[in-house]
Amino acid sequence: MARASRGKTGRHLAPDEAQANNGRKAAAKTVPQQATSIKEGGPLDDDLPLAREAQRAVRVLNPSGAVTMPRPTRRRVFAVANQKGGVGKTTSTVNLAVALALHGNRVMVIDLDPQGNASTGLGVEHGAGTPSVYEALVEGQPLDEIAKTVDGIPSLYCIPATIDLAGAEVELVNVVAREGRLEKSIETFSGELDYIFIDCPPSLGLLTVNALVAAEEVLIPIQCEYYALEGLGQLLRNIELIKAHLNARLRVSTILLTMYDKRTKLADQVEQEVRGHFSEIVLDAVVPRSVRVSEAPGYGQSIMTYDPGSRGATSYFEAAEEIALRGAKLSRRGKNQKGGN
Ligand SMILES: Nc1ncnc2c1ncn2[C@@H]1O[C@H](COP(=O)(O)OP(=O)(O)O)[C@@H](O)[C@H]1O
Ligand SMILES: [Mg+2]
Repeated sequence: MARASRGKTGRHLAPDEAQANNGRKAAAKTVPQQATSIKEGGPLDDDLPLAREAQRAVRVLNPSGAVTMPRPTRRRVFAVANQKGGVGKTTSTVNLAVALALHGNRVMVIDLDPQGNASTGLGVEHGAGTPSVYEALVEGQPLDEIAKTVDGIPSLYCIPATIDLAGAEVELVNVVAREGRLEKSIETFSGELDYIFIDCPPSLGLLTVNALVAAEEVLIPIQCEYYALEGLGQLLRNIELIKAHLNARLRVSTILLTMYDKRTKLADQVEQEVRGHFSEIVLDAVVPRSVRVSEAPGYGQSIMTYDPGSRGATSYFEAAEEIALRGAKLSRRGKNQKGGN
């Protein structure tokens, strides 16, 4: 009995402290930071679903703020593209950006969709009249004047999109070097960044072209559903065209499988097909279909902060970690082999 009332330091606990310890399991769901003590409480506790959830939350939230995902040696710019709507572009942009920022990276999200869903998901103001990516593209306003930091995550910036952006495709048509406006605009930002994620609209118009000219890497989210690969050929051909004429550095570096429903055979078939076709650029982490993921934007939050102990948060955390580790490997190779990928 004496053992049972000892704390982890070995000292005896007063009865009310011991009671408080019992209450920790219940509190873990709302105060994830306490999970460390649960873990240290003993191996049996680890088997409790609530304790496991709390441990996942701590891993995702990284309350120490330490750099736990290696920072790239130079800034990586991703266009998150797929001309199909509803495949998880915005959800992936928001959650990968938050995950990398929570783990020691300086990150910017550029919302390039007039619907402004990435701005909403990050809880960033984007009503009419807010300085936005439209002013950057069409009027050449410096990004420093437009960038907003995301509440609670100081190393994460957002360039919001307002409804004005809907007119930009047309307004840019007669602008000089119209395909390179976003790239030029990014160069005006004075802050140091490790990652930029550009959330593309569901089309292959001038906005997406601007993203593909500004980026070095393309991240394609693929939904594990019917017609998942439909239209992918067209996207890949467009990327090749941009590579040939406007941006020789561009490459599809990352494919992320989203909305995976393990109850369906179809999801598994889509996964096999995509892995068979694209092999190592497909991340090992797969994002499950989950109601919690779809709820989070309604609260102006990512799944990482809305429900950090959930499977959805864990999968985006693991995807972000893979992106960071793969980048670190690439830059090491680049250092050793000049002109390497
Ligand atoms: N893993 C997921 N599980 C459940 N719903 C998801 C998931 N990922 C995205 N969604 C939902 O699906 C819809 C489309 O996702 P979104 O990221 O906006 O796609 P896109 O930007 O490609 O149009 C949104 O309502 C979003 O909340
Ligand atoms: Mg979107």
